[in-house]
Amino acid sequence: MSRPIIIDCDPGIDDALAIMLAIASNELDIKLITTCAGNQRIEKITLNTLKLLSFVDKEIEVAKGADKPLFKDLILSEAAHGKSGFGEVELEELKFSVSDRSAIEAMKDTILNSEQKITIVAIGPLTNIALLIKSYPEVIKNINQLSIMGGACTGGNCTPVAEFNIYVDPDAAKIVFDSGIPITMFGLDVTHQIPMYKEDIDRIRYIGNKTGQFAAKMLDFYFKEDKIEGMHDPCPVAYLIDPSLFTIIPCNVEIETKGEFTRGQTVVDKLNQTGKPQNVKVALEVEREKILDMLYNAIKKLK
Ligand code: BDR
Ligand code: CA
Repeated sequence: MSRPIIIDCDPGIDDALAIMLAIASNELDIKLITTCAGNQRIEKITLNTLKLLSFVDKEIEVAKGADKPLFKDLILSEAAHGKSGFGEVELEELKFSVSDRSAIEAMKDTILNSEQKITIVAIGPLTNIALLIKSYPEVIKNINQLSIMGGACTGGNCTPVAEFNIYVDPDAAKIVFDSGIPITMFGLDVTHQIPMYKEDIDRIRYIGNKTGQFAAKMLDFYFKEDKIEGMHDPCPVAYLIDPSLFTIIPCNVEIETKGEFTRGQTVVDKLNQTGKPQNVKVALEVEREKILDMLYNAIKKLK
């Protein structure tokens, strides 16, 4: 039986690839996609999600979520994802429209009405998930786990110590990481083990379908100097399809919300120095070739 999931995202080039990977997989059944402001403003990323689904011809409910972080001002990632959010690609066709339900209401109903526990794949700032937990704590018992792209054991891509998704809304991240929901975290430690080179992009470009051409065009925008630094958002999806791709250890993880220089840092206690509860399973290693093959085969399966 396939696993029911909700994807909470901010497409976003790598978000789009993560959604494609999930759509193509037999192991996952996407019940709902929710959007959260991050890489771009909420209107744009919600439209991007609908256009992406139109492009691959897959109808899934898309519910619009938070337009800004809980307490902080919104920070966009235009340099990485471009003005459109898909690099320099603009998808035109729009077959589907946004849900009447808000992201929080749609998530709540989907989770509470599901016979099987729901897994949430969170690949943007964690604002929606924090609002969901605070508004409807009764959902927690029917959430199987959160598979998250965010954070890092060491180093950041937004500041010297903070990764983008956590940096944008650290207050939300703290609520989520402290919630008691089982969390698996895919941070920069693993995503930077998946650089993509020109030949990896060309392999996708020449698959011979329109999804491959679209994916490659987006990836061209991500390509800086001689490579794409890392492939982020497909990781938490790939883990649900094949967990054996990753080496994972349980750790205590705290979120820095107030630090003068360290806002959004994920403080990962790999050596259990604090003795605090191990609230997160942290991915430390990934098999690069296998995950890139998985992505390639997923794109090949689409139109
Ligand atoms: C994360 O930040 C976003 O720009 C990407 O989509 C990814 O979710 C990587 O730090
Ligand atoms: Ca993202």
